[in-house]
Amino acid sequence: MINDANAYMEKVKEAASYLSSKVGAIPKIAIVLGSGLAPLAHMCDKDIEIPYKDIPGFPESTAPGHDGKMIFGKLSGKDVVMMSGRFHYYEGYDLSLCTFYVRVLAYLKVETLYLTNAAGGLGDEMEPSDLMVITDHISLFCESALRGANLPEFGVRFPDQSSVYDKEYIELLSQCADDLEIRLHKGVYAYTRGPQYETPADIRALKILGADAVGMSTVPEAVAASHSGLRIVAVSCISNMAAGISKNPLTHEEVLENAGKASFSSCALVKEFIARC
Ligand code: HPA
Repeated sequence: MINDANAYMEKVKEAASYLSSKVGAIPKIAIVLGSGLAPLAHMCDKDIEIPYKDIPGFPESTAPGHDGKMIFGKLSGKDVVMMSGRFHYYEGYDLSLCTFYVRVLAYLKVETLYLTNAAGGLGDEMEPSDLMVITDHISLFCESALRGANLPEFGVRFPDQSSVYDKEYIELLSQCADDLEIRLHKGVYAYTRGPQYETPADIRALKILGADAVGMSTVPEAVAASHSGLRIVAVSCISNMAAGISKNPLTHEEVLENAGKASFSSCALVKEFIARC
């Protein structure tokens, strides 16, 4: 939680000026590499990699498969910055730390944030390794990333949430998927804090509430980013069918395996979107 807005902003500025000193021009597009997106880091013409541990104020990423660095380079002919590794509430970080990088990007005038994640699928038409563009989210029961002092340099105290995910981007992404012949669902992502997966009763409840996918990331970042005025596009890789829908107990290995199988389409979709956005 942000106790002191001025102190928090000082940290944001410190991190931002460190990055500006390392990178010439800051790109307008940031991409968060969730599970299955790691290969994208090798598909760009890299200019510079900056480990999170070198950036003032950044926490270190502890989640397996998230290696913790910012990669600046060119993808599909455009300057981008990729976040390889993100911070989750279940790792023990306060949400103000999980979303610190979002504020730093916003301060540096990044305009578009492409978020990706692995998620459990609830939709009847879904199969593991499918992709879903997030049209909205449910985070009713969870702490807000905006809890505590407001950061008026970024946004208002009570921000509207009626279009967190950019409608034009959702349409553009759908067109990209059609052109690439990638099956792309549209749906609502329910955020849970984790690290335990949901119970079958949790999933039945979330389904009644209107969720199509469930996962432990993305929403805090999307809330902070929309508060900061960024345009957001977010894609879930359905790495498993959610608890109780899947016959098998869920494992992190299954999540990684299916996210890996979707990797080719996940990366192709990002590249096409970046070329056309
Ligand atoms: N639930 C929550 N988070 C997840 C899941 C899930 O089923 N799969 C991948 N991340």
